[in-house]
This record gives sequence, structure tokens and C-alpha cells, in this order.
Amino acid sequence: MYMVKEYANASKAQYRDALDVIEEFEKELSEMKGKCIDIGCGPGDVTKKLILPRLSPEAELVGTDISKPMIDHARQKYLDEKRLSFFELDIETTALPNEEMGQYSNALSFYCLHWCQNAWQAFENIYKLLQLGGKALVMFLAWNDGFDAYMKVHENPQYKPYMEVDNHNTQVSIYKKLTEDYSPNRSSFQDADRFVPFFHRSKDSRAALRTMLNDIGFEVLHCSRREKSFVYQNMEILKSTETSAVFLRLFNCIVLRVHGFRSHMIAVNPFISRIPDHLKEEFEDVVVREVASRKILFTNKNDNGQQEYSILDRYHILVAYVRKPSSTY
Ligand SMILES: C[S@@+](CC[C@H](N)C(=O)[O-])C[C@H]1O[C@@H](n2cnc3c(N)ncnc32)[C@H](O)[C@@H]1O
Repeated sequence: MYMVKEYANASKAQYRDALDVIEEFEKELSEMKGKCIDIGCGPGDVTKKLILPRLSPEAELVGTDISKPMIDHARQKYLDEKRLSFFELDIETTALPNEEMGQYSNALSFYCLHWCQNAWQAFENIYKLLQLGGKALVMFLAWNDGFDAYMKVHENPQYKPYMEVDNHNTQVSIYKKLTEDYSPNRSSFQDADRFVPFFHRSKDSRAALRTMLNDIGFEVLHCSRREKSFVYQNMEILKSTETSAVFLRLFNCIVLRVHGFRSHMIAVNPFISRIPDHLKEEFEDVVVREVASRKILFTNKNDNGQQEYSILDRYHILVAYVRKPSSTY
């Protein structure tokens, strides 16, 4: 999924958005005591630098992630932090370990849950992880037109085999169950779809999330959808000459360079690890081109006085703060 170093170096937008929400909920975080869990902690930087210092001093924080390389990296990097530990956990699992049930006073999750196609399962697991009365603060991506680029690239016969996997049937049934109630608008399902966030096609993602949380049993204390934007302005020349030529035609520009943006796209692209080496660079170019063609490009001046292109990325996030009731009936 994610490449550790690449993600750590190209996740400025995620870090900034997590900080915004964490600062907004600073009071709530300061009241979090006991054993807290960060779900989808990635390299552990947000866990250590943004979350941990804001929790009550008596709190202990456990960072969890589906990715072993992420957990290994976080463990190694934050070895000396006594109140912090890390372990592997798939929040979408249908077999949540018994010993983890009801263990956490609070749960946090930033920029992870959009990876879960079975969003219901992920939220149900968060419910199970919490103690009675426990609270969760989550933020994740709801919509980004860049995700439609995956579906477009998937149509290309050269890449199609690498964007389709085995558990198609499982995903279809999950999808059918969820669409009955939460109605994103699509009729077919492919592997590439699996990496398109569940709420991406919802007509009203905030309402769909609120309904899902209520149905699971949470009290919803806050649920909002926010529009965000980020400008990728560092430059990096596209490597493939053919792709660059297409870009030049598309945007009628003298030089188009896509950096920061390209690094970011590659760091978060779920298909790259499946692509054979001889096709990798070309695939990266095609994905970057497809995503960039959906964005707003504008010229700026770099430090050398040259004109370059920046990319404005607009997207939506969902933020929810929920509570597991103190008693179950
Ligand atoms: C964009 S990173 C966010 C990392 C960190 N929370 C941050 O804000 O920088 C998303 C992380 O979610 C993890 N992830 C994806 N699916 C997951 C799942 N089903 N269970 C747990 N973690 C998952 C990925 O491995 C990745 O490290």
C-alpha cells in the first residue's frame, strides 16, 4: 500500500489537515485519559508529534496500522517514547482480536478510513475497541476527483491486469449491502474501485456517515464534511517523454513539471507495487497525468525567475466525533 519513506516525505497536506482537526478538538483531546488508540498511524509522526502531546499526561497511546513496514518504522523511530507503542491491526478485519475488544478509552484516526471499502466494518470495529462511554475522533477523505483517474487508467488494457484482484466477489457483496442503505451511485464493481473511498460517490457523504454511525450504535457528537485545498508547487519534470508531450499539448505550455504533486501521487498510489518494473515509470506518468488533468493548474514564478506550473488540489474530508453509549440495553 503506502511506501514508508515516500509517504513520510510527501504527506504535507495530510499532516496539515490532521493538525487543523487536532487543534479544533484540542480540549476534547486534553480530556482523553487511559489507553487510547490511533488507527492507521502510518509512520507514526502524527501519532507522536500531534496527538500524544495533546492527550492528558496520564494517557497512553497505541499506534496501529495494517502495514508492517509502517509499524516497524514507527517502532524504530519512536523507541524511546514510554507512553507510545505500536502494533499491526487491520481495522477492516472481520476477526478483531478478542483481547482488543473494549480495551480503549478513546480512538483517533486521521486519513486512514477512506482506505476501507467496508466502511461499516471499520466503524463497527472502532465501536468494539472502545470501552463503554469511550469516544472516537476520526477524519478521512470523502471525495477527491483524483480517484476517478484510477478508474480511467483501469480502462487501459496495458494496466488493467494490475488493477484487478482476486477478492472481487467479496467486495461486490460488501458493496451491495452497503449501497442499499448508503447509496453511492454505481452499478458495477472492479478492483480499482476498491481504492476509491466508499463515500467518494455518495450524494451526501455527511448524511451517509451520520446514518452509518447512528446505525452502528454511536452517539454522534459532531459530523461534518469540509472542503479543503492544497497547492503543490515544487516542481519535478515528468520522466516519460511521450507523456510530457501529451501534457504539453493538453495545457499548451512550454514546460510542465509536476513535483511534490508527483511524489505525493506516487506515495499514495495503491497499484504501483503491483506494476512490473519495466512499466512502472510509464504507469506513474500516466496516473499523474490523469489526476493532474482533473486539477486546476496555474503558473507561478520559481526562485530562478522561471515560469512553472502549480497544481491546486481540491478535496473533501469528513470529520466525526462520536461516543459509545455508557450502557448497552
Ligand atoms: C495516509 S496514511 C495516514 C497516516 C497518519 N495517520 C497520518 O495522518 O499521517 C494512511 C495509513 O492507513 C493505513 N491503513 C490503510 N488501510 C488500513 C486498515 N484497513 N487498517 C489499518 N490501517 C490501514 C495505511 O497503511 C497508511 O499507513
